[in-house]
Amino acid sequence: MASRPCVYVTRRIPQIGLDMLNEECQVDLWEGELPPPRDTILQGAKNCDGLLCLLSDNIDAEAMDSLPQLKVISQYAVGVDNIDLEAATARGIPVGHTPGVLTEATADLAFGLLMAAGRRIAEGVENVRSGNWHTWAPLGFLGADVWEAKLGIIGLGRIGAALARRGSGFSMQVTYYDPVRRFELEQELGIEYAPLEQLLDEADFVSLHCPLTSETHHLIDSPAFQRMKPTAVLVNTSRGPVVNTDSLVTALEKGWIAAAALDVTDPEPLPAGHRLLGLPNCTIVPHIGSATISARGKMAEMAAENLLAGLQGKRLPHCANSNVYNK
Ligand code: GLV
Ligand code: GLV
Repeated sequence: MASRPCVYVTRRIPQIGLDMLNEECQVDLWEGELPPPRDTILQGAKNCDGLLCLLSDNIDAEAMDSLPQLKVISQYAVGVDNIDLEAATARGIPVGHTPGVLTEATADLAFGLLMAAGRRIAEGVENVRSGNWHTWAPLGFLGADVWEAKLGIIGLGRIGAALARRGSGFSMQVTYYDPVRRFELEQELGIEYAPLEQLLDEADFVSLHCPLTSETHHLIDSPAFQRMKPTAVLVNTSRGPVVNTDSLVTALEKGWIAAAALDVTDPEPLPAGHRLLGLPNCTIVPHIGSATISARGKMAEMAAENLLAGLQGKRLPHCANSNVYNK
């Protein structure tokens, strides 16, 4: 009987996924609450056929070269910017990810952040908690209307489209920018395309839903903030480096925009005392876009399915570098 393939899992994921792996594989699981140090992954996975990793693990060409047995990488996330896809493709290694199952959860969080920042909910909570709620204040905590406001969506993938549906439910006027025009989706969702500059000029809420690539790195920097309305709100549930953090701090301090709400930051996590943490008009949550019980469970199943398929030499059901199969 062939021996069981060996897999390295860089963090405890929902049990359903681990059970699937345990049935077929010898599983080496990093039990720490924090990510394993790079050397620990490279040592631990040295003789492994499969790697199940997270967005906090940097899997570059050098890492792949130090894992000579590696047949498949399965990322427990939809975004794969922490993995060098080109290097994986060049080495014939398929990379799995988890699209679809976290779309609605992430769009829910993006809309929640949009409302929280627009209506200054986090500032209000802080005010009450700190014992400063003294009276009903005619001029207190005035924010932006969400109803009928202009929503600008950058990146009309699954999550961007799901946010557009939520915006329509609030009678928002939705425009999007994407390098690829989506004529069918425009029709279906009743939304309009706008060039990036126009979207930035006009939107009351700008929400980011693009992957992090060399093209989108610092897509939102000082010139972009200076275009935006002084009343505008920026929402980021994509990846931190899509926004230039220094420019964001300046924009929030100088009132180039009214507020920001972030699920992702650069650096991530933010160190104690970071300038963003001192800004009352910046609401930050700790990268929880997909953090629902259901979404995380489905992600675990999907990540396990991808890993098992790769180990069996089958095509991954959800592959982030499908050109690996064209070689
Ligand atoms: C989370 O950020 C993901 O990419 O799934
Ligand atoms: C990710 O699932 C996206 O396409 O937005």
